[in-house]
Amino acid sequence: MARLKVGVLISGSGTNLQALIDDCARADAVCEIALVLSNRADAFGLTRAAEAGLPHRAIDHQEYDARADFERALSAALEASGVELVCLAGFMRVLTAAFVERWRDRLINIHPSLLPAFKGLDTHARAIAAGVRIAGCTVHFVRSEVDNGPIIAQAAVPVLPDDTAVSLAARVLREEHRCLPLAVRLIAQGRVSVAGERCVIDAAGPGGALVNPAPDT
Ligand code: GRF
Repeated sequence: MARLKVGVLISGSGTNLQALIDDCARADAVCEIALVLSNRADAFGLTRAAEAGLPHRAIDHQEYDARADFERALSAALEASGVELVCLAGFMRVLTAAFVERWRDRLINIHPSLLPAFKGLDTHARAIAAGVRIAGCTVHFVRSEVDNGPIIAQAAVPVLPDDTAVSLAARVLREEHRCLPLAVRLIAQGRVSVAGERCVIDAAGPGGALVNPAPDT
């Protein structure tokens, strides 16, 4: 079976990109990374792509007067590489409705909170300040409203009493690295559909509940 061609958009370290690279290297992989794009030339994720022998390019948003022109350059590069699914993996530019519609239901994002809670930036500091006991991450299809759209996969982690934004971010990031490849696999296998702005997933059953603090029994 032909592997799904994935394009990955990054802005920084690219640990989520690395998780996808590692997943695509498995013998049973169902996707391949056809292109890695960064809006920053100094993003370490581009080095990861180079080391993995993947096509990669920086498209610097600062070189474009209009956001629409920057996005047209992104789409042109993705289409030239035959990309079928675009993953935003730490891509720190807000995308216009025109780009989102062009890639509708072929564009996913990883966000470090249990959406719809804590959209936007500084999710971990805000989760701690709110006193939530469970935090996590979400992979979702992108819609024009930021951090909104049908949810594909989520993972939850406990918030511990001594957590800082840094320690909680590290715990959530480990789960991001499992959730993003999982979501991409499910899509590649044709097991995800969108109905009425909710995802219908043909997947294995749920695991046990995460309760924090753990009950005594
Ligand atoms: C991740 O926490 C992602 O959810 C957020 O930005 C971070 C990117 O990390 N949007 P990396 O570049 O994948 O290491």
